[in-house]
This record gives sequence, C-alpha cells and structure tokens, in this order.
Amino acid sequence: MIAFPVFFDFGRKRIPCPLDPQHTVVESELALHIKRCPAHRKQEEAEAKAYYRKACNTGSGPEVQLDEAAPGGPDAQGPDPKAGKSAAARLAHACGMGQARFLELAARVVAACEQVCGADEDPVEELLEELEALPGEGVASERSASNRPFSAKHARQQASIVGHLRRLGLLEEAQERAYVEFGAGKGYLGLAVREAAPGAALVLIDRGTFTLPADRVLRKMKARFERLRVDIADFEPRGAPLLLQGSGLGSSGKGPEPSLRPWIALGKHLCG
Ligand SMILES: C[S@@+](CC[C@H](N)C(=O)[O-])C[C@H]1O[C@@H](n2cnc3c(N)ncnc32)[C@H](O)[C@@H]1O
Ligand SMILES: [Zn+2]
Repeated sequence: MIAFPVFFDFGRKRIPCPLDPQHTVVESELALHIKRCPAHRKQEEAEAKAYYRKACNTGSGPEVQLDEAAPGGPDAQGPDPKAGKSAAARLAHACGMGQARFLELAARVVAACEQVCGADEDPVEELLEELEALPGEGVASERSASNRPFSAKHARQQASIVGHLRRLGLLEEAQERAYVEFGAGKGYLGLAVREAAPGAALVLIDRGTFTLPADRVLRKMKARFERLRVDIADFEPRGAPLLLQGSGLGSSGKGPEPSLRPWIALGKHLCG
C-alpha cells in the first residue's frame, strides 16, 4: 500500500486530495473542497466531451483478480509505486499465469504478429531513408523540436510502422481515411504517418498532458488533426469529429446519420 503523508494545519488534519494527490486538503472540509477542486472541474469538462463514454471499451471479460501475495500485488513496494493499481494488477496477472501459459500466450502474440506483418526482418534502414526523404519534418523534427538528442530508436520504430502500413496498402486512399494513434504521447508517430499519407485525418489520443512539439508541426502543415485527452477505456469514436463522414445533421435534422469513416488504429509503446 502506498502511504501518503498526513499534515496538520493549526491542529486541523490535512490529507491528500482524493481527486489529485498532488495537493492536500483539510480533512473536515473535504466535501466542500471536492466541489471546488480544479481536478473536479477538469474531470467534469473531460466527461462532457462527445468522445467520452465511461468505460465503453472495457469489455465484459472477467476482472483481473489481484492476488494479495503476488509480486506487484496491492502491498507491493515496487520500483515504481506511481505505476498504480492497474500496472500492478497486470504484473500480478502475468506472474499468476505460470511460465507455461505465459510462453503459450507470447507464442500466440508472435504468431499473430507474423501473420499480419510477415516474418521477414523489416527493411528498416530503407524505410528510415524513405522517411527522412519526406518533405515534412516528421522523424527529423524530433531532432530539431526537442532538446534531447535525435532518437535513432524511435525513428526506427516509426519507420517500421510506416513501412508496415505501406506494405499492407493502408496508406492508399489516405484522404478517405483517418489514422488514430492510441497512447500518442508527444505525437511523433502520428506525424510520421501523416507525412507518409498526405491529406489523411489524424487523431492523437492520450490520457496524459505533454509538451506538444509534433502538434505544432502538424498545425504548421495545416494537417487535419485533433488531439483528444481521454483514456482509451472511455474513448467513443463517434464523438470524434474527424472520424465522422456524412452531413452531421443526424437524428435531430433531416440528413442521414453521420457514419464513421474507415479508420486505422496505431500504437507504439502503448503502456502505462
Ligand atoms: C511509453 S509512452 C509512449 C508514447 C509514444 N507512443 C512513443 O512511442 O513515444 C505510453 C503512452 O501511452 C499513454 N497511455 C497509456 N495507457 C493509456 C490509456 N489507457 N489511455 C490513454 N493513453 C494511455 C501514456 O499516457 C503515455 O503517453
Ligand atoms: Zn483537490
């Protein structure tokens, strides 16, 4: 269990705000604070978005049961306590599977990946050259727009994903399609894909807040893109304007209901 510090303020006990433990609140004033807390207002704003539908993607599968004694269980003092219960639950679940079942699952993932992407080594160097030759700033912009040195690792990963999309024909008719990057972080993969698929709509999804250098480049390119701050668990595609096609008059108007345009989901290092 993670223990939060408790402070005393002129004899009044202060506890971490349950909505945002970065600040504390006088315990006896908690109910009042909750109504006024900026985190509460932010949450309300987020929940009012058309692309928010609580837990719409969580499915109906069985819940992962936390084994109290398992490594990473609720009492664990692991290396990253901020990873929170969900990461601890996943770790506990993986440990609880046992080696044989885990290896079987890993083999299924590899087989599925090879079925879709082919077993051959990526011609990554070729793809990297192809990406760097693009007119925009995609991979190269990571070097110029951030203070950290150019990351060859990330560039190779972006090149590989763009190459797979191309090989599978998923960059064709890009103007008709939208690309949705889940766990987009700073958005460089989305930017690289958008540069390889001119005219495409791009939706960047992440529950976190970031500096947004890739968004700046996308704006400069006048790309059709939107960044949505939402947990994937709660993401409702029908509420994302760039994913809709049709008149938009919908049920209240005379026109046909807008439908979803074909969209392609992407992710790189989607974890957290
Ligand atoms: C390791 S970072 C990778 C960022 C970027 N895709 C990259 O490759 O550099 C993982 C990102 O996924 C986001 N993420 C993880 N789980 C998420 C969820 N359930 N909903 C939305 N974003 C999520 C995190 O906020 C984080 O920005
Ligand atoms: Zn608060």
